[in-house]
Amino acid sequence: MTVRRSVVRGTGSYLPSRVLTNDELSTLVDTSNEWIVQRSGIRERHIAAEGEYTSDLATNAARAALDNAGIDAAEIDMVLLATATPDHTFPATAVMVQEQLGIAHGCAYDLQAVCSGFVFALSNADAMLRAGHARKALVIGAETFSRILDWQDRTTCVLFGDGAGAVVLEAVDGEGAADDRGVLSSRLRSDGRHLDKLYVDGGPSTTGTAGHLRMQGREVFRHAVGMVSDVIDGALTDAGVEADAIDWFVPHQANKRIIDATARKFGWPIEKVVVTVDKHGNTSAASIPLALDIANRDGRLQPGNLVMIEAMGGGFTWGAALLRW
Ligand code: ACO
Repeated sequence: MTVRRSVVRGTGSYLPSRVLTNDELSTLVDTSNEWIVQRSGIRERHIAAEGEYTSDLATNAARAALDNAGIDAAEIDMVLLATATPDHTFPATAVMVQEQLGIAHGCAYDLQAVCSGFVFALSNADAMLRAGHARKALVIGAETFSRILDWQDRTTCVLFGDGAGAVVLEAVDGEGAADDRGVLSSRLRSDGRHLDKLYVDGGPSTTGTAGHLRMQGREVFRHAVGMVSDVIDGALTDAGVEADAIDWFVPHQANKRIIDATARKFGWPIEKVVVTVDKHGNTSAASIPLALDIANRDGRLQPGNLVMIEAMGGGFTWGAALLRW
């Protein structure tokens, strides 16, 4: 039976040039390189320059992905951008990216699921491609979390960074089997009973300001591994694939301890885990496509590999997707 699949044709990413190290952060708030590395695995993060916006980061990542795919922007008929830090309340940042790429056909819109945004966007784009609404899609995660951090709050400001990553997806007819290339399965979840554990204390309809990120870090940590394990299990079951068949685990890069505990649970050795949190910090929706691009360009991701991605974030939202590269 022919089944339409969304195949990754190319990847791209962009990081602002300014690097903020833990030692430099220690001069701004009462913290230390040792504390940050021990609790999170983060050593440095990138920070967007004044006048450099989420749309700029996203457009740079999208251009790199198109280049990597060898596909012209004119062939793209959908731009889906996951972000919690849009340039403006509206129009959607995706439409700004579409305009900067010179695309005036198809559709472009933003998707908001915070740190899980890229998994949600990939799953949504896959559904759109399979339903025939588009043929070639740009799926982007881009964030400027530095703009919503409270730089006096050491419990949050040390954990996040700015960046963008993108993939080009193309609808291709497969056999409907687990050895097809493309997105094989995805599971998405949310549960608003956890709204107060990770949120931003402002918004257009409430304070009229962008607000600042607030987090009960311990509570997030307590739920993270169980929640992502559940959707990983679901994505494996839906695709009829065993955990030990996974070639690469590309998790959301929030915290090295969460990554290690999840990988351990599924028996994936550290050599199969793509880790960028040390250099990028938590870039929210950008973290997975950034990590995919790095592993794609350095040759770790090879055609035919099974790749598991997962994320969890504010809401809570969480999700996982299984792809054959
Ligand atoms: N530097 C030094 N000390 C600090 C810092 C800091 N930056 N931040 C907090 N502390 C102190 C606290 O004040 C506390 O001191 P006290 O014992 O005197 O009260 C002590 O360190 C321990 O604080 P905890 O919050 O209990 O530290 P914990 O071991 O839980 O680590 C952390 C905190 C890193 C936030 C951890 O809970 C965590 O990783 N949580 C997950 C959060 C996360 O990943 N969020 C990302 C967004 S969601 C997502 O993407 C999955």
